[in-house]
Amino acid sequence: MTSATEPIQMVDLKTQYERLRPDIDRRIQSVLDSTAFIKGPEVNRFEEALGAALDAHVVAVANGTDALQIALMALGVGPGDEVITPSFTFVATAEAASLLGAVPVFADIDPRTFTMDPASLETLITGRTRAIVPVHLFGQSADMDAIMDIANRHAIPVVEDTAQAIGSTWKDQAAGTRGAFGTLSFFPSKNLGCYGDGGAVMSRSAELAERARLIANHGSRKKYHNEVVGINSRLDTLQAAILQAKLPHLDDFTRRRREAADHYDAHFADIPGITTPHRSAHSHHVFHQYTLRIHRHRDRIHDALSEAGIPSAVYYPVPLHELPIYASSPDAHVRVPLPETGRAAREVLSLPMHTELTEEQQQRIAHVILSA
Ligand SMILES: Cc1ncc(COP(=O)(O)O)c(C=O)c1O
Repeated sequence: MTSATEPIQMVDLKTQYERLRPDIDRRIQSVLDSTAFIKGPEVNRFEEALGAALDAHVVAVANGTDALQIALMALGVGPGDEVITPSFTFVATAEAASLLGAVPVFADIDPRTFTMDPASLETLITGRTRAIVPVHLFGQSADMDAIMDIANRHAIPVVEDTAQAIGSTWKDQAAGTRGAFGTLSFFPSKNLGCYGDGGAVMSRSAELAERARLIANHGSRKKYHNEVVGINSRLDTLQAAILQAKLPHLDDFTRRRREAADHYDAHFADIPGITTPHRSAHSHHVFHQYTLRIHRHRDRIHDALSEAGIPSAVYYPVPLHELPIYASSPDAHVRVPLPETGRAAREVLSLPMHTELTEEQQQRIAHVILSA
């Protein structure tokens, strides 16, 4: 039972674990007994189960950042190429391109969904554009019709950063399966999280998925016969076993998050100065984050929550183009104004969101915000 004095957490992994504990513990013990810590059978089984759920080929890798890098490597992205991404995202989205010597070029966002603005994307395409990486931020899909239309017209492949949106859709198709590749993260706080690092690359193309598998495995299909320069990126067997236990609950996790989002919406509807999350008509929102826009004094509300012992977070306070790693060469990365990116960074506030949130906790959170 949760009492009024019990601390509210941004993400409660413990209560969820307690609910699923017998199955998770049994699976972990079985891996320990087998000692097949690397490439155990659970990895393949998890890939197949997730692939069936998403209707895509899945290659499990070490984390979501590697997944992006592997997808870009599989598409041949390299030095001098340009990769268009939003600036309003986690750094890994752009970092993967930079690591390969490519130049991330930043697009602005749609102010309602916080995802890549297709109109901004279109103006950034040049002869050097080698990939487009939209991000399905906070749990709902970017406008994949518009993005794929632009990408197809220019014959540029799309990698969908789906780290925050497993279980989401674009027009009834799993998010992350429209482009050449989609990438996932199983970081513990993600909607499907393991107990360490984990990630996956997915594709509807068996050929592209095989290419990703090759790259993730040192560029080799057969041991000591390396065909291309690859990397070492594996999901370990323990994480695969944990993910196998959790995957059948993904729909329930999503339902719980959406219910919590509905309760928050009811508290904040029609409050002047606060905008609740927009729900796209074409994408099932899985609420990785519940992110309000607070038009004035966002930081004051952030502080008031903190003083009341309630966590909240600004995802993301610094747009990527303002980070020292990219701001030092602005002409390379910023070619169009990014006003909505800047405004979002000033206004967003993400509230506690997880599968175990209670209405009573949400009432306490809303009370502090509305009093402030
Ligand atoms: C949008 C986005 N892309 C990529 C990543 C990278 O995933 P990971 O932390 O598993 O490397 C994350 C999560 O951390 C993310 O939120």
